[in-house]
Amino acid sequence: MKTVITYGTFDVLHAGHINLLRRARALGDRLIVALSTDAFNTGKHKSALLSYDNRKSVIESIRYVDMVIPETCWEQKVTDVQLHGVDIFVIGDDWQGHFDFLKDLCEVVYLPRTMGISSTEIRQDMRQNEALARLES
Ligand code: CTP
Repeated sequence: MKTVITYGTFDVLHAGHINLLRRARALGDRLIVALSTDAFNTGKHKSALLSYDNRKSVIESIRYVDMVIPETCWEQKVTDVQLHGVDIFVIGDDWQGHFDFLKDLCEVVYLPRTMGISSTEIRQDMRQNEALARLES
């Protein structure tokens, strides 16, 4: 039984997220998603459109995901890996090299990001559309 873990906000879910989750799950038998809490995002100066509870409901209903745990701080990765018996840590290659310190504990895999889509872009498009709609009304 190989356990895989990944971390992220997964706001306004899109195909890039699904590709990442599918490929992560395919590396093992069980996928844990550590989902950034709203307080952790605030600390990162990142604001998700959807609340933690909302994002959790969506993520835990995905067939590639076996378990969702909260990501509340940067430092929890080592204890998560130990506590959940993680074999493989997976994240998109926008984080290339950042988590190599975990290589003492488990395998670390950086998967290529899906090009041309991100939650940030979707949120920006939504704001632009709102602004246009206001101008036109
Ligand atoms: N990811 C990906 N391809 C994308 C977008 C995200 O593979 N096009 C991956 C990230 O590398 C990360 C995971 O999905 O491993 C969750 O990323 P997250 O930061 O929640 O998604 P983004 O869409 O990048 O969100 P944001 O723009 O708010 O950073």
